[in-house]
Amino acid sequence: MRSGRLRHRLSQLNSLKEKEIWKVIVSEQQEIVLRGQVLTLKGSPFEYALSDVVHYERCGAIKILNGKITDVGPAETILKSNFDGQIINYEDKLLLAGFVDAHVHYPQTAIIASWGKRLIDWLNSYTFPEEMRFGDATYARQQAHAYLDLALSHGITSFATFTTIHPESVDAIFEAASALGMAVVAGKTCMDRNAPMGLCDTAKTAYDDSKALIEKWHGNERCRYAITPRFSPTSTPEQLLALGALWREYPNCLMQTHLSEQLEEIEWVKSLFPEARDYLDTYERAGLLGEKALFGHAIHLTEREKACIREVGASLIHCPTSNSFIGSGLFDMAGLSASHQRIGLATDTGGGSSFSMLRTMAAAYEIGQLNAGPLHPSELLWLATLGSAKTLHLCHAIGSLEAGKYADITVLDLYSTPSITQRAERAEDIWSALFPTIMMGDDRAVHAVWTAGQCVKNTLY
Ligand code: GUN
Ligand code: ZN
Repeated sequence: MRSGRLRHRLSQLNSLKEKEIWKVIVSEQQEIVLRGQVLTLKGSPFEYALSDVVHYERCGAIKILNGKITDVGPAETILKSNFDGQIINYEDKLLLAGFVDAHVHYPQTAIIASWGKRLIDWLNSYTFPEEMRFGDATYARQQAHAYLDLALSHGITSFATFTTIHPESVDAIFEAASALGMAVVAGKTCMDRNAPMGLCDTAKTAYDDSKALIEKWHGNERCRYAITPRFSPTSTPEQLLALGALWREYPNCLMQTHLSEQLEEIEWVKSLFPEARDYLDTYERAGLLGEKALFGHAIHLTEREKACIREVGASLIHCPTSNSFIGSGLFDMAGLSASHQRIGLATDTGGGSSFSMLRTMAAAYEIGQLNAGPLHPSELLWLATLGSAKTLHLCHAIGSLEAGKYADITVLDLYSTPSITQRAERAEDIWSALFPTIMMGDDRAVHAVWTAGQCVKNTLY
């Protein structure tokens, strides 16, 4: 498996022995065309007929200028009028919009796959000790690069990440991501109780630090800020109120947190907030429920909670590998999508057990099978791209391959391993060609990755 810092990768550019080269520099103002199979969704297959929302070109092309897509269509059409720019021919590889991971904890990169605990014990045993280290800006930068390296190698071009209570951890991820022209959402994780002393701020410092970080980062290039109370058990009502007040001052920011992940957690919330009607109400009464709110997990919701979330248009983020790994429960995709909730998909690294959005789609499929019905590959692709982009309120810029959007592109090899190849060879259409890679693929299936019109991963053979 790959490891180490992205910068280290960049310095390997000249080594032709390396399987991967990172960052092929494409000069600005140079028109470039990527050729291959092109597949994108322009609307939700949960809501519309496939024929109305799918754009598929067997021999397709994407034209790019200044980091953005200027045209998508049949290669014949795109290349016909004396095109004299650079052409990169990916042949039968599949060009998709870059994957969007709607909920991740980049500081948990190093503790992914830690054994044997349920949520609260897992936080205390593995997560909090690791998060303590992020007060050291050098360590935070090192881990931000390590995470980005892994995310890009899995075809993730945008994500919404929790950080730690340390502002250094927020600076580290925004600095590293913006150096690669990536669109990312991040925010300082706020906690003022039920965590080790070294990981607690206060209502005031959470407000002050978050405000300073919003001023520094929100809207800076492609960075977006999310006000981030970790979850109700680790925030006093005073801290939640302070962050609610901050959100009213900066309503264009997102707000991300956790909601109703495990039954023991919900019982704990009841005892900590006896005055609240339910878990959601602990946020709602503090002014932390709104259209730009992202609620991770949301497994054990009451009917009242579902109705309120639906009414304001907040988002629910499905974290299927995490929900199995930590033993949290089955997200009700069928019921929630039928009632038109806005839903995104996420790895939830490191409670989630994989950095891969392919593996995450596979887990969403498996949980669907255990819980009311299989998801079509188009629905899985939607969740991993435009659906998640919508939850981050970035769907005007990312999530699909359309003129005007950023050229954030993931190129899949649909024949990346022998087991996938022998199945894909029998495929009858693009969905049955893609599904074996969704179910069995990993970073070996990610052939190339582009962010803002720059190639940041390219496999040579
Ligand atoms: N709830 C509060 N914090 C966390 C976290 O870091 N991971 C998960 N999965 N759930 C949480
Ligand atoms: Zn989480």
